[in-house]
Amino acid sequence: MDSIHIFGGERLCGQTNIQGSKNAALPILAATLLVPGISVIENCPDIADVASMIKLLQSVGCLVMREEHTVIVDASCIKENRLPAEHVTKMRSSIMLMGAMLGRTKEIVIDYPGGCVIGERPIDMHLEALAHMGILFEKEEHKLRAHADRIKGTVLSLPFASVGATENVILAAVLAEGDTILYNAAKEPEIIALCEFLKSAGAKIMGIGTDTLHIIGVCRLHEGYCVVPSDRIVAGTYMFACAGCGGNIELDNVRTDQLHAVYDCLTQVGAVIEYSDNTIFMKMQERPKPVPYVRTAVYPGFPTDLQSPFMTVLAVADGTSVIEEAIFENRFRIVKELVAMGADIQAKGQYAYICGKVCLYGRHVVAEELRGGAALVLAGLIAQGVTVVGNRKFIDRGYEDICQDLKNLGARISVR
Ligand code: EPZ
Repeated sequence: MDSIHIFGGERLCGQTNIQGSKNAALPILAATLLVPGISVIENCPDIADVASMIKLLQSVGCLVMREEHTVIVDASCIKENRLPAEHVTKMRSSIMLMGAMLGRTKEIVIDYPGGCVIGERPIDMHLEALAHMGILFEKEEHKLRAHADRIKGTVLSLPFASVGATENVILAAVLAEGDTILYNAAKEPEIIALCEFLKSAGAKIMGIGTDTLHIIGVCRLHEGYCVVPSDRIVAGTYMFACAGCGGNIELDNVRTDQLHAVYDCLTQVGAVIEYSDNTIFMKMQERPKPVPYVRTAVYPGFPTDLQSPFMTVLAVADGTSVIEEAIFENRFRIVKELVAMGADIQAKGQYAYICGKVCLYGRHVVAEELRGGAALVLAGLIAQGVTVVGNRKFIDRGYEDICQDLKNLGARISVR
């Protein structure tokens, strides 16, 4: 049951709804630690990383209940500030709990979250920013103890608009003494969703959606509520599936205002896209055209999380394309698998040179991480014949049910 089987080479046609955003839900769940009571989170995706985050919340004393896509967290009593290594080391996002736990209890002991195959994923920016707020750090073997008598608002500027570092500063600042001004903050939609949840609980945050956040520390938060926005990366994944296979699809429950960089790339390869407030209609009649150069960037630039799915489309484009991966140092993991399927791709440092082929051929391939795994599923949809993608567990970390979603769009796909 750990592999996905795809009978490829067919056009897509159909409609599917888009799940809630993994990268919004995770920091929002961490933020519930700041609320000394109930938080209600609707449209929360039922994915492995959310399950891990819920287990981490329960490990420190939170009561958590899920009713379909609604998660209710009662963080009235925090009984523990040492997080279990098991869940921390396998999920990078556990680092969000640092800012939240410090804001609530002023102490946390956590394992270093560790890197993954796409990069070392250090936390130096997180630690440097939190240290400016009065937080002290001590190493305890593989663990890191962070604590403070008082967390003080301050003026900070991030050397890079890190999503996670921005989220950790916000989480530590909402209950700090005084004001925090954060320059060069990340502007991803997931940061906006986090700030809106915190504001629903009484936090005072200005500049939301810009690169300068002003957070006025308050004494206490009250009950919080939010509806997790739809997942722009899942929506983009399925649009690239259509771009590679051809056909016409409809995606519903989409935040269509968050995908302009993706529309630009899809239009360049020849897709026709129309969208309303929360629905996208996409048509792809011909073989994809090549894209001379595309570079991943922080929001609103082309998202690094869609780089692998886009590479899969360009592998069958009618010409040569170049991708520069400017966010992570090792995010061309699927090149070798795509080459085994007949692609002509050369990765040199942060650049991938893709010479489009007429078609790919079904193979048994293995996912090594979340978005690369999703891209291999797309390659299976595009390829002639049967493709088996192993290590489905990586894909389940971020996609609630990629097989059902793609079946809704007309794909011949199943879990075995
Ligand atoms: C978030 O990761 C997302 N994860 C990632 O999505 C996404 O790819 C990334 O932002 C960029 O958009 C979640 O939101 C849970 P960063 P994060 O801090 O916060 C370096 C997915 O597939 N860096 O913006 O870890 C870092 O190594 C995942 O859903 C430092 O050097 O990303 C990377 O090269 C993958 N020091 C770059 O910055 C630091 O202290 C961007 O990292 C922090 C980051």
